[in-house]
Amino acid sequence: MSKLVGNTDFIDLPVFIKGKVRDVYDMDDKLLIVVTDRISAFDVVFPNLIPNKGKVLNGISEFWFNYTSDIVGNHMITTDTGKYPESLLSYTGKIQGCSMLVNKVEMVEAECIVRGYLEGSGLKDYRKTGSICGIKLPEGLKQADKLPEPIFTPSTKALEGHDENVTYEELKNRIGSEMATMLRDTSLALYKKASIHAESKGIILADTKFEFGMLDGRLVVADEMFTPDSSRFWQMDRYEPGRAQKSFDKQFLREYLETLDWDKKPPAPRLPEEVIKNTEAKYIEAYEILTGKKFV
Ligand SMILES: Nc1ncnc2c1ncn2[C@@H]1O[C@H](COP(=O)(O)OP(=O)(O)OP(=O)(O)O)[C@@H](O)[C@H]1O
Ligand SMILES: [Mg+2]
Repeated sequence: MSKLVGNTDFIDLPVFIKGKVRDVYDMDDKLLIVVTDRISAFDVVFPNLIPNKGKVLNGISEFWFNYTSDIVGNHMITTDTGKYPESLLSYTGKIQGCSMLVNKVEMVEAECIVRGYLEGSGLKDYRKTGSICGIKLPEGLKQADKLPEPIFTPSTKALEGHDENVTYEELKNRIGSEMATMLRDTSLALYKKASIHAESKGIILADTKFEFGMLDGRLVVADEMFTPDSSRFWQMDRYEPGRAQKSFDKQFLREYLETLDWDKKPPAPRLPEEVIKNTEAKYIEAYEILTGKKFV
């Protein structure tokens, strides 16, 4: 049985940021990103860990960074702990597989979202205004419907830390026309390439979020890429527009939560062993389907 990674306090480096799922350490011009086995839903982290989730998410990001490197470069240096700097040697046993050494980049202040299907905040905006981020959509679309074309719907961090959808014009005003165009074109190209691959494996990539940065004057994808934490994955053979789709990875978790009267505020409830096992299996399945590799 694999060792669980719940926290990474054993790593004696300055913390760059600790998110809900990932712990990031500062190594001057590089970052060490450790994807833990923590799981969250409705923005709340659960007390239980999902075995191997960190390795799966890290491996999925690595796969996509390689798969899309013909479109745009990325921040990845290596996931092979054997190639990590010597200062990390004492940790490598614990973070093998679930970590990535990356180049620190100057992040572009925009969350680059691409939507191929109508769900989430896009669905909310559409119901209110008939558009998403100022992009007018046909009338009469149902929840989870496929859009006529994938659309670029950027958002930016509002003051309170919550993301706020912005129009393309607004994005241009904030970061300049040339950068906005580059982000839009690159994001759409990435989404198209990845969704064709996913579809050929029976998975719908409903939408996704990228974060870009500048490295030596070039645009690169940073953060994570097409993981179930940054994207909506749906199973194609169960796809049925007009209702919410089952999340590929979190379906067992969500179904369990529906049986409780938890108010979706912390603290999150403990999860039964069955839910943990089934969720782990779904993550491993996602990894194997998308990468075409056996998970070891
Ligand atoms: N190569 C990089 N260089 C610099 N910053 C990066 C790089 N890759 C990712 N980041 C930043 O690291 C941070 C990772 O944080 P993370 O996503 O784990 O937590 P969070 O966004 O605060 O919370 P959440 O868990 O809700 O996502 C993000 O702010 C991202 O912009
Ligand atoms: Mg984040």
